[in-house]
Amino acid sequence: MDFSNRTVLLAVGGGIAAYKACEVARLVVKGGGTVRIAMTPAATRFVGPLTFQALSGAPVLTDLLDPASERSYGHLALARAADLLVVAPATADLLGRLAAGLGDDAVTTTALAITCPRLLAPAMNTRMWENPAVRENLATLRSRGWEVVGPGAGALADGDVGEGRLAEPVEIAQAAARLLGPRDLAGRRVVVTAGPTREPIDPVRFVSNPSTGAMGYAVAAAAARRGAAVALVSGPSALPAPASVRLIRVETAEQMAGAVEAELEGMDLLVAAAAVSDYRPAVVHPHKLKKGPGDEVLRLVRTPDVLGGVASRLAGRPGAPVLVGFAAETEEVVAHAREKLRAKRCDLVVANRVGAPGAGFGAGETRVTFVTEAEPVELAGSKAQVADALLDRILPVLDARRPRPAGR
Ligand SMILES: Cc1cc2nc3c(=O)[nH]c(=O)nc-3n(C[C@H](O)[C@H](O)[C@H](O)COP(=O)(O)O)c2cc1C
Repeated sequence: MDFSNRTVLLAVGGGIAAYKACEVARLVVKGGGTVRIAMTPAATRFVGPLTFQALSGAPVLTDLLDPASERSYGHLALARAADLLVVAPATADLLGRLAAGLGDDAVTTTALAITCPRLLAPAMNTRMWENPAVRENLATLRSRGWEVVGPGAGALADGDVGEGRLAEPVEIAQAAARLLGPRDLAGRRVVVTAGPTREPIDPVRFVSNPSTGAMGYAVAAAAARRGAAVALVSGPSALPAPASVRLIRVETAEQMAGAVEAELEGMDLLVAAAAVSDYRPAVVHPHKLKKGPGDEVLRLVRTPDVLGGVASRLAGRPGAPVLVGFAAETEEVVAHAREKLRAKRCDLVVANRVGAPGAGFGAGETRVTFVTEAEPVELAGSKAQVADALLDRILPVLDARRPRPAGR
């Protein structure tokens, strides 16, 4: 099982099967993944956190109100870093608290902050498992998108025989690998641009735009999760570097063009999601401009066209990289995107209407249109979902244009 570049957050509940969670942690590590552990207070009575710390190579979150781990909001950091949450064993009690949306310990509070896929591995006595309250809680969690593995049937630790045994660790790890999705970009080199650029006027002022970088960062994270070697060329953004992504920070359009240029060798896919300034001030004043009595006129000159520059040199050549552009428009979105598609010789343009509710700069959710020479396709969802849908769409183009050498 391959977990490379993936971070699994394993949340351990206080059941007799907690010791089997050790094996789940070990399988993730063996598969090249990172495992992080959160435990309920009851779980720590069954297996010592030290065991999980040794297996994961990282501190274990056990006490939500611990000043040391919460100095940097440990539970939120865990939730943010995770590609998948696995709750094993999920006790009857934990199912109830998760279904009720409680946040009364490290596990439930972290689970509330999770946005990645979530997997439950329930384990309990058969009569507890058959209790309608437990069944209702499980149904509630399923309806909210939680996946479930097990439980199996057989002899239970308490002497009963029936359903309620924790799924075998290898089954849990297999379900986890399945939920983490394909590694269909393994061996590919992907370059993503993200964020705004800043074009200086003087040492304390610049021309820019409100891009946060969220869309490009989501594409970079998704491509890395799917196995690509990813370089993320980012203008100023407050977002942390996604896991396993090489982050190259730039400020201006010219620096962004230079950084992309330096990454062209062997590049399979360029996703140009940055909101690059089309113009920059003609003169950059070495000292802060002083306020005068009258108006000021700022003369602007064109900046280098990052995507257009790559396209004009490489597009149309055999084995050229696949090019994806983004078009933020306020009107005639599809028509403008199609112009961009042709002018910049892109394989796909992702168009979005900025200013529309639930779309554009900074919004967690977005609405976009995938524009190619075929019928446009509309899509709404989180930026992570749009990123994966974009990669799904571009993969056949990539495989046709740049077939993988054997072994890649
Ligand atoms: C020896 C022992 C074994 C237990 N095994 C389980 C179990 O397998 N499944 C379960 O749901 N509860 C089990 N419990 C009950 C839980 O430990 C109890 O409900 C606890 O509050 C769960 O806490 P947590 O869900 O916060 O981890 C067991 C209790 C004891 C004393």
